[in-house]
Amino acid sequence: MSDSDVTLVVGGTGKTGRRVVERLQRLGVPIRLGSRSAKPAFDWERPETWVPCLEGTRQAYVTYYPDVSVPGALDALQSFFARAVDVGVRRLVFLSGRGEVEALHAEQALKACGADWTILRCSFFCQNFSESFFLDPILAGEVALPLGPVAEPFVDADDIADVAVAALTDDRHSGQLYELTGPRALTFAAAFEEIARVTGRDIQYLTITPDAYRAALVEAHVPDDVIDLMLYLFGTVMDGRNQQTADGVQRALGRQPRDFKEYVQGVAATGVWRS
Ligand SMILES: NC(=O)c1ccc[n+]([C@@H]2O[C@H](COP(=O)([O-])OP(=O)(O)OC[C@H]3O[C@@H](n4cnc5c(N)ncnc54)[C@H](OP(=O)(O)O)[C@@H]3O)[C@@H](O)[C@H]2O)c1
Repeated sequence: MSDSDVTLVVGGTGKTGRRVVERLQRLGVPIRLGSRSAKPAFDWERPETWVPCLEGTRQAYVTYYPDVSVPGALDALQSFFARAVDVGVRRLVFLSGRGEVEALHAEQALKACGADWTILRCSFFCQNFSESFFLDPILAGEVALPLGPVAEPFVDADDIADVAVAALTDDRHSGQLYELTGPRALTFAAAFEEIARVTGRDIQYLTITPDAYRAALVEAHVPDDVIDLMLYLFGTVMDGRNQQTADGVQRALGRQPRDFKEYVQGVAATGVWRS
């Protein structure tokens, strides 16, 4: 197998990237991890690390960190796409976000870069409840968010990875924008209730003001830029604009997306919410 058969997975140890890596490895597709802990290291903050990771690869799955909406993300993505095309990358599969104007700009940059592209425009991940910022509050038994009864069609990272791998291995997905959501929208309160019911844990869900949320994050020593991001996500993006489900999983894979209930049952069985 030549070097050019290698697929770069940027964020290959993250929530979707790790799942993409597992699937590609099962298919025997050679991969290169793109993350700060990989060798060679890939760091969005250090553009000089990008080309050594891109060289010799034909395609890439691209996840930006921490979020496509943060200042500097668009510039970084635009110049990453250009460098990828310069070194011969032919196909880019990009993880985008729903309801973020910055994500739309990044998608436009991708479409204009000259590579074959597929966009995965995703709703809020189920895995935020088990592999990210909601895990600790769940284990502590109290979640406080500046959110009203807004509903969200949480999408499972396993579905995202299935679509990403389909896009990386089948030309039919080239030029497609897939809006990926779960099969139904539920409120955050209902989502925590579902986890509490299945696990038998007591989880209090409180609605607090944005100011109180900021104060709590400051007290927890969360960095300022992360606080701004959380307030943007919960205050602006989660204003109800993303409540509709979309048919991206069905269009890409010909099957229904996984329901939040199924996700909760699967994760509960692993014991992640037990400790
Ligand atoms: N989470 C959601 O609900 C959601 C929904 C829609 C869209 N998105 C989009 O998905 C993308 C990823 O978000 P996520 O929350 O799911 O994160 P994630 O993929 O779980 O992020 C962690 C990954 O990023 C890598 N990473 C961290 N800092 C990095 C840096 N400076 N340079 C290169 N790699 C770095 C980590 O590896 P190392 O630590 O080894 O570097 C790890 O592989 C974002 O662009 C976001 O806008 C997320």
